[in-house]
Amino acid sequence: MKKYRVIEWATGVVGSAALKRIIEHPQLELAGVKVYSDEKDGRDAGELVGLPATGVAATKDVDAILATDADCVIYCPMPWSLDEMCRILESGKHVITPCPYWFPYKQNPEVAAQIGKACRAGGVNLHASGCNPGGIAERFPLTFTGWCNRIDRITITEYGDCRDYESEPVIREVMNLGKTPQAAKGNPVQAILANSWYEPLDMIAEGLGCEIIDYQSSNDYILANQDIETAAGIIEKGTIALNRNRHVARTREGTEIIEEQIWFMDDLEQNRLESKLDIPRDSGWRIRIEGDVNLIFDVQVDADTQKERTTQGIQTTGFHCVNAVPLVCESPDPGIKTYLDLELIAGRMGTHSER
Ligand SMILES: NC(=O)c1ccc[n+]([C@@H]2O[C@H](COP(=O)([O-])OP(=O)(O)OC[C@H]3O[C@@H](n4cnc5c(N)ncnc54)[C@H](OP(=O)(O)O)[C@@H]3O)[C@@H](O)[C@H]2O)c1
Repeated sequence: MKKYRVIEWATGVVGSAALKRIIEHPQLELAGVKVYSDEKDGRDAGELVGLPATGVAATKDVDAILATDADCVIYCPMPWSLDEMCRILESGKHVITPCPYWFPYKQNPEVAAQIGKACRAGGVNLHASGCNPGGIAERFPLTFTGWCNRIDRITITEYGDCRDYESEPVIREVMNLGKTPQAAKGNPVQAILANSWYEPLDMIAEGLGCEIIDYQSSNDYILANQDIETAAGIIEKGTIALNRNRHVARTREGTEIIEEQIWFMDDLEQNRLESKLDIPRDSGWRIRIEGDVNLIFDVQVDADTQKERTTQGIQTTGFHCVNAVPLVCESPDPGIKTYLDLELIAGRMGTHSER
């Protein structure tokens, strides 16, 4: 069996999940770990994720990591950097990332061109993957559309009680949770986020052979009526404790596509919120297809198997990136590889590991 040498870049919530699975994956060999904090610099990769020593020390040194012999980098920092991604590609390493760019051709053609150029220079591929976007947002709904004939509307909703999600930057900057309404309004990440959610809309439209003629985004929220304790710190009374984003695309062919996220910092009773929203589940996703066949698919990560159930299957994001390594490394014609280009990405763990 061919083995692939893989570098884990950043070891936050997603990166740590990915690192564990790189170490344990039968087809992969850990080649290096890039970290940002002084506290992690020089420590053994296994120690960072509660596994036995691997003999691979984490490093803050970007040049050393770029010079490391490896097939692929799983790139999981926050914030991400397009230039950094391109440097990795130019160094001859494939990149798999839960960060943008999942399908940049329409929203960010200049970015797509820059990545394409770097891929060709390094003779490698970039695949932006993950959970949502990178699966729920486009790959799974597109798969289910094969059961339909006429499609009027596709709605993908993410429900997340995020109280267990430890990443403060993602919770506060990306999700706006814990921000005052004024701060949220001025948050530049909101526009980046809308742009990021238009990419899955574009990928679905492309997969369906549709043309999008109109995009719309809206955002509303509910404030906390008391301080709420969470893994990312206290969400203070009077700040945003439920944030709903909706991104809607209308197509010339009549199909409407909606990507919606409802992130909140309470249980389903919502007693700690100033008002309540009709939320059917505390965590997971609903994919709804309406047309001549109406379909509803509910996806939920089982609380008994994943402690991070309420954090949107963050580990699954890392695992999926890792499982994509062999396919991405073997995909011909260097460039961006979306789900429309790749074969099915399946798990490769087998039953060998109980760790
Ligand atoms: N597509 C999806 O489904 C999906 C789902 C979840 C998250 N994401 C994305 O995945 C990325 C990682 O998310 P996460 O939950 O793992 O976040 P996180 O826990 O906050 O981890 C981010 C990591 O970035 C590194 N970092 C620290 N300072 C940095 C800086 N100035 N510049 C760049 N990186 C820095 C740190 O690595 P060290 O700890 O190693 O020092 C940190 O642990 C984010 O960009 C997020 O938006 C995507």
